[in-house]
Amino acid sequence: MISIGMILGALLTAAPAFAQSIAEKVEACASCHGQDGRPGDKSIPIIWGQQAGYIYIQLRDFKRGDRKNEIHPTVSSFEKVDMLAIAEYFAQKPWPDLGQPRAPKHIAQQAISAEHSVGCTGCHLDRFQGSGTTPRLAGQSREYLAKTIADFRTRTRGNNPGMTDLMLATPVDDLAALAQYLAGL
Ligand code: HEC
Ligand code: HEC
Repeated sequence: MISIGMILGALLTAAPAFAQSIAEKVEACASCHGQDGRPGDKSIPIIWGQQAGYIYIQLRDFKRGDRKNEIHPTVSSFEKVDMLAIAEYFAQKPWPDLGQPRAPKHIAQQAISAEHSVGCTGCHLDRFQGSGTTPRLAGQSREYLAKTIADFRTRTRGNNPGMTDLMLATPVDDLAALAQYLAGL
């Protein structure tokens, strides 16, 4: 016979257990994504202050195997509710300043003219801040941006065929200029 007291007791013990499991899960991310939001390795992206919808989609895609990476730990045990909570947790952190230099004028001009012909900010929004499931690019690690753009082109990153098509349609030297320009924003 299950009493109301037993149900309440189970609910009360489940709530802190859930909170603790999220805290434990995000602690594991810091070893790569940084205790203060600055990843130790430049090929690892900033996730502090990234758009929550975007973080969630990436975790979902890592779990599904639509986005593959040999370094990234598996998130196959994560439930949707965990991934949404983790995404919200990181989105609320302040975006860290990696102190990357501004692109020199001729690189910035090349990037801006490529941006105008493709219309990147139509999706990534003004000043590349992103929104919802579209990521912030401003101030992201230059090495990571260059790597993930190359991965879209080779379909090593195959989770968004639309971005792959766009990256394939953009000249390689324009993309290099964009990575340098975006990192310095
Ligand atoms: C062993 C190192 C490592 C750990 C631990 C790790 N990550 Fe990552 N993470 C990476 C690397 C490397 C990438 C870039 C993958 C790529 O190049 O496609 C990445 C990418 C991501 C991205 C995509 C960001 C973007 O801009 O596309 C998200 C979101 C993410 N990680 C979240 C997490 C969360 C949440 C945790 C903890 C549960 C975590 N990561 C733990 C190494 C790690
Ligand atoms: C039609 C809308 C759209 C346009 C136009 C667009 N993007 Fe994106 N971009 C996205 C979306 C959505 C994602 C997230 C893909 C995913 O979920 O993996 C993305 C992802 C990215 C990423 C990966 C960021 C990360 O943290 O891993 C880079 C880099 C990027 N875009 C650069 C560009 C550049 C540079 C341009 C212009 C040349 C551009 N995008 C144009 C919608 C767009």
